[in-house]
Amino acid sequence: MTKAAEIKERKPIRHIAFIMDGNGRWAKKRGLPREQGHQFGVKAFRRVLEHCRERGIPVVTVYAFSTENWKRPEKEVRSIIRLMDRYLSDFEKNMESYALRLRFMGDKTPFDEKMRQKMEKLEKDSVHYKRILNIGFNYGGRDEIVHACNALIAQGAVQVTEQELSDALYTAGCPDPDLIIRTGGDLRISNFLLWQAAYAELYFTDVLWPDFGPAELDAALEEFYTRQRRYGGV
Ligand code: IPE
Ligand code: IPE
Ligand code: MG
Repeated sequence: MTKAAEIKERKPIRHIAFIMDGNGRWAKKRGLPREQGHQFGVKAFRRVLEHCRERGIPVVTVYAFSTENWKRPEKEVRSIIRLMDRYLSDFEKNMESYALRLRFMGDKTPFDEKMRQKMEKLEKDSVHYKRILNIGFNYGGRDEIVHACNALIAQGAVQVTEQELSDALYTAGCPDPDLIIRTGGDLRISNFLLWQAAYAELYFTDVLWPDFGPAELDAALEEFYTRQRRYGGV
């Protein structure tokens, strides 16, 4: 059996999520501005997304910009938004080959009208694709939970169930992530998928995000398959 076939044989991963960290340090190590780290980060993201497709993973979630990342210098923030805008233009042009349902996680109001419309149009136009790409952009796990609670209150809820709250999150309809990978060496969650991560397997690697590729992802999948998931049982 080939490696790819062997991996597919196992209990399938239904949802994988990435904290794509380390772009800035990757650039610094090369004497480049942080913005270039983000550019190479986009290349890594494309490679990893393609590899997730090859591995048959139906839902991919990435953390691209957090609610806390607005603290960064304006120049860097602008360059991240510009990179996203470019990615979206490419997505729009090549939607057939991307063949993904795109969903944004996060409040879109801080972005300009044109960007917001583009985001919303892509969400609408890609809605029929089965594979899902969730992009956390102005995303924070706490913000998401508060946003969901407020939406439920606005609908008249007085009490809510776990299922109702799950269904009001940005990831509504997606299974919880099986595996969350953080690159860049830090051992923390940084406000990512706080609710959904309840029973996710966590994988941390020192590899900086722009250096993360198919081989690193396969190593993480290998490790994942050695984990025993008990969900509180024995
Ligand atoms: C992750 O890389 C990308 C974003 C947070 C937008 P960083 O920019 O955080 O890179 P480091 O952690 O400073 O190396
Ligand atoms: C997490 O990385 C956010 C994204 C990858 C978008 P950060 O670089 O913002 O996280 P901290 O500040 O190290 O916790
Ligand atoms: Mg970082």
